[in-house]
Amino acid sequence: MRKRIVAGNWKMNMGHADGLLLASSVIEDVKKEPLLPGVIVVLAPSYIHLKEVVALTVGTDNVFVAAQNCHWEKNGAYTGEVSPDMLASLCVKYVIVGHSERRSMFGETNEILKMKVDAVLSAGLIPIFCVGETLNERKSEIHFTIVKNQLLDSLFHLPESQMPNIVIAYEPVWAIGTGLNASADQAQEMHLYIRTVIGEKYGSKIAESVSILYGGSCKPDNAESLFACADVDGGLIGGASLKAPDFLRIVKKA
Ligand code: PGA
Repeated sequence: MRKRIVAGNWKMNMGHADGLLLASSVIEDVKKEPLLPGVIVVLAPSYIHLKEVVALTVGTDNVFVAAQNCHWEKNGAYTGEVSPDMLASLCVKYVIVGHSERRSMFGETNEILKMKVDAVLSAGLIPIFCVGETLNERKSEIHFTIVKNQLLDSLFHLPESQMPNIVIAYEPVWAIGTGLNASADQAQEMHLYIRTVIGEKYGSKIAESVSILYGGSCKPDNAESLFACADVDGGLIGGASLKAPDFLRIVKKA
């Protein structure tokens, strides 16, 4: 059975003290009210919080920590960058790769993301690889092609043996931070498409094992209908992950 994952992407938010308070509120609640089997929570704070949020997860077996980004080299003269090996040394487990904000604001191309995916995997971490179309691309009815190419260009060079170590997040760009989520039907349609494309390349057994998360204005009041879709295995949550009660309400819908 594939994992159901609710990941909180804090983006560039939260000072140090507020971030630790948010993380500990979430983790304490999960300890008190255990999640359903197969459900895991991933917290993706900024780099400044990583070490201490990892420490807060000690003693849990269903809360993990992600970085929001990384470089593709192991080390070297890359001022301001952090490598997957450095993240692994902090016991971070996941890295968000290819978020649309990284693609659109920081020039991350499918080619760069391919290198990041490889680097994350070779450090023993799990990429949460983001795909998704812009509003114009959806209006032009090329959204399936866009998402397929993102998968082909950055992920489908991987051998079959690596696919169990991949999480995919479908995040339509027009839904991120806009309050306008994809409908359950739109999400299911794209998730099924992604699973079908994976199946064509790697076989249905692997396709069925890959968790595909939905992201884009996922909130406590729409999480239930989105997560009820057969091919939606949880969510990548931005704005609503910054308040522990909201995030926990979403977690409990998984
Ligand atoms: P949002 O962000 O939930 O605020 O729309 C989702 C994301 O960017 O991962």
